[in-house]
Amino acid sequence: MMLAREAGSWLIFAAGGAAVVLACGERGGQSQAKSDTTGASAFAVSSQPLEPIPPDDSLARPKSLHQVGVPLALTDSVIPKDNPQTPQKIGLGEKLFFDRRLSANGTVACASCHDPRLAFTDGRPVAVGILNRLGQRNSPTVLNALYNQMQFWDGRATTLEQQVGLPIVNPVEMGQPNLDSAVARIAAIPEYRASFIRVFTRQPNPTDLVRAIASYERSQFSFDSPFDHYMAGDSSAISASAKRGWVLFKTRGRCNLCHLFADTTTRPTRFTDDQFHNIGVLIVRHNVVPLARQAEQAIAKGDTIAIDQAAILSPMSALGRFLITRADSDIASFKTPDLRNVMVTAPYFHDGSAATLWDVMDHYNKGAGTRDPYLSTEIQPLALHETEIDDFVALMASLTSPRYKELGARELARQRQLSRTSRPQRDSVRAFGPKPVQPKPPGR
Ligand code: HEC
Ligand code: HEC
Repeated sequence: MMLAREAGSWLIFAAGGAAVVLACGERGGQSQAKSDTTGASAFAVSSQPLEPIPPDDSLARPKSLHQVGVPLALTDSVIPKDNPQTPQKIGLGEKLFFDRRLSANGTVACASCHDPRLAFTDGRPVAVGILNRLGQRNSPTVLNALYNQMQFWDGRATTLEQQVGLPIVNPVEMGQPNLDSAVARIAAIPEYRASFIRVFTRQPNPTDLVRAIASYERSQFSFDSPFDHYMAGDSSAISASAKRGWVLFKTRGRCNLCHLFADTTTRPTRFTDDQFHNIGVLIVRHNVVPLARQAEQAIAKGDTIAIDQAAILSPMSALGRFLITRADSDIASFKTPDLRNVMVTAPYFHDGSAATLWDVMDHYNKGAGTRDPYLSTEIQPLALHETEIDDFVALMASLTSPRYKELGARELARQRQLSRTSRPQRDSVRAFGPKPVQPKPPGR
């Protein structure tokens, strides 16, 4: 095995003939990277002990449509014709979602990184998978993922059926060599054989495996938040501070340019335009242009498995949507996430680099503040005062579904406390300064 250090932070390993480039040890937070020399290949690993699989309890059950704010017609329209919802199929998908036997060594389930107790996230900056291997990206929530027009931070999957297959075969997530191995594992269990025959009238196979899990994902809609009640006409459902935050969100904050919420469209209840933008998240630590040229050489356009690996376990992850489209304008662009339940899904951004919603607000307030030629032109200094930042946070806290009400209150208190001593993204000079001149993109 060859080991070299480059740019102070990237380790390059040549494992089994193929060079794998990994980012190591530069991230704050609880996961400290070190190199793993026990396996045949080398991956950055977390020093945290392996957690047990979260419980498959009431928080994990399919959700009721009787929630204020559920978009009924839209919910219906996102169910594909060839994979209709049935209670048995959703139940099978739920079992599989919590089953670590889907992973290569029987230690990691979908729920390991999408824990219902944390609104289907993992509370870590970046995900930790099989053999404690560290990924490059933050685990998004599965709640309301059924409404996403594209899945993953870079939209490399368009359907949930496509999405489900990728973590199973990713070497740092569930580590299976292919879907057939995962199916073989499941097919060896008589109870699963019986369930597949009951639901699909045939033996376990990759198509039905991903269909069952996708059906379960489509049962996870989450509304009924104080904000939904406010929108439905209960003017006392949110605080005065959250109301001010809502006005700022649509005006000086410019948030609704991307976190779209219009009650006049057919997709009214989402806080996303389903588009990709470069908002400058820590872009400065990556030299993205050489990285982009490297990706063009290393990855065949449209090779989903290679793109998935680049996104999850290489520094090319930072290229975001570019990995799929190869358009320079998409360099470091990521999908606008829905903001529902955001209070309980810290840390934030595609790389988990913002610990609190105050850090997120500081990022926007200073207009990202990087000299990035691909930064969205919509990102600019906002000149927000502290009380206004608190109002934005109050608004975002009002987007929490009742199931996470207590967690939301605890988390708001925790983040507020943390923000009193730690505001690493705050830069008042930039926030109240002029919009910087943006450098031109380099020519090809
Ligand atoms: C090791 C941790 C890990 C495991 C295991 C895992 N995921 Fe994820 N999941 C992630 C990360 C990280 C992302 C974001 C990756 C990206 O965008 O490139 C993600 C993205 C997703 C998304 C997309 C959400 C969105 O808003 O775009 C869904 C849905 C999802 N996972 C469901 C699943 C299912 C179902 C399984 C099991 C088959 C699973 N995950 C296994 C970590 C994990
Ligand atoms: C130009 C489009 C754009 C604008 C304007 C914008 N956002 Fe975002 N937002 C995004 C994108 C894209 C991401 C994901 C970026 C990433 O992770 O690299 C994001 C991420 C976030 C996140 C993190 C969510 C998570 O789950 O990690 C929060 C919170 C957020 N935005 C709130 C806001 C608020 C509040 C405003 C207004 C002050 C705002 N955004 C303005 C596009 C935008």
